[in-house]
Amino acid sequence: MKRPIGIFDSGVGGLTVYKAIRECFPNEDLIYFGDTARVPYGPKSKETIIEYSVQNARFLLQHNVKIIIVACNTSSAAAIHHLSKITSIPVMGVIEPGAQQAVESSSNHRIGVIGTEGTVRSGAYSRAIHQLAPITQVFSLACPLFVPLAEEGWLDHPVTKTIAAEYLGFFKDKDIDTLVLGCTHYPLLAPVIQEVMGENTRLVDSAQAITTHLGTLLTDEEETQSGKDSFFVSDNEQKFSSIASRILGYEITQLKRVRMFESWFAEE
Ligand code: DGL
Repeated sequence: MKRPIGIFDSGVGGLTVYKAIRECFPNEDLIYFGDTARVPYGPKSKETIIEYSVQNARFLLQHNVKIIIVACNTSSAAAIHHLSKITSIPVMGVIEPGAQQAVESSSNHRIGVIGTEGTVRSGAYSRAIHQLAPITQVFSLACPLFVPLAEEGWLDHPVTKTIAAEYLGFFKDKDIDTLVLGCTHYPLLAPVIQEVMGENTRLVDSAQAITTHLGTLLTDEEETQSGKDSFFVSDNEQKFSSIASRILGYEITQLKRVRMFESWFAEE
């Protein structure tokens, strides 16, 4: 039986991953869930992030997905092991692919990582990078205001530039040649981040890297699928829809809101 690939994030950020997957696998059916009622995850406790992530995965499992992509670094850092325990289908996070790409990109072994408070606090990127390249120096910084700016669609607003300059000043004396965008919302601000960092710093976005990993799990049989898109959010459909069409470059039609009842989801 043909089954879709499930992807979730706390909001619109995971659409950067969605877009990369859709471009690489045009025939796959994809289901996206953005937990827009509870975004941001970054400042929340590990326990809460695990609880939300498990609920999101259960929602996707109700749709009989064959693979779950955790298109959220904060969830990947906190919850990937818990998610693997609730299902036998493959669950893929974004941290390892991002770390691998960063190590391949860096020549001077000095890598910066920006992410949410939860991701930075977890130390997940440092661990993953050190496992691949122990001599690397990793400099990590939480940039919490980037998430609401991306959710608001202020991708090249002057305020975004000011905030980016303020945060990224941290890296001025660190001599990094690679900066990991360790939050799936951040690639939406990549032009501004690149402008502030200068062209000698390479930006790493794990969305591309994850498609390579995904390719190894998919078989030819799926080639005949229709390539259907389905989007679900837990709140604010209109706002999601307008930013989603900016990110994806087309209007999304299959968008539904799901309501949460305790630890369960029901479609309206
Ligand atoms: N996009 C998410 C991430 O990759 C989470 C942002 C948030 O909800 O704080 O970490």
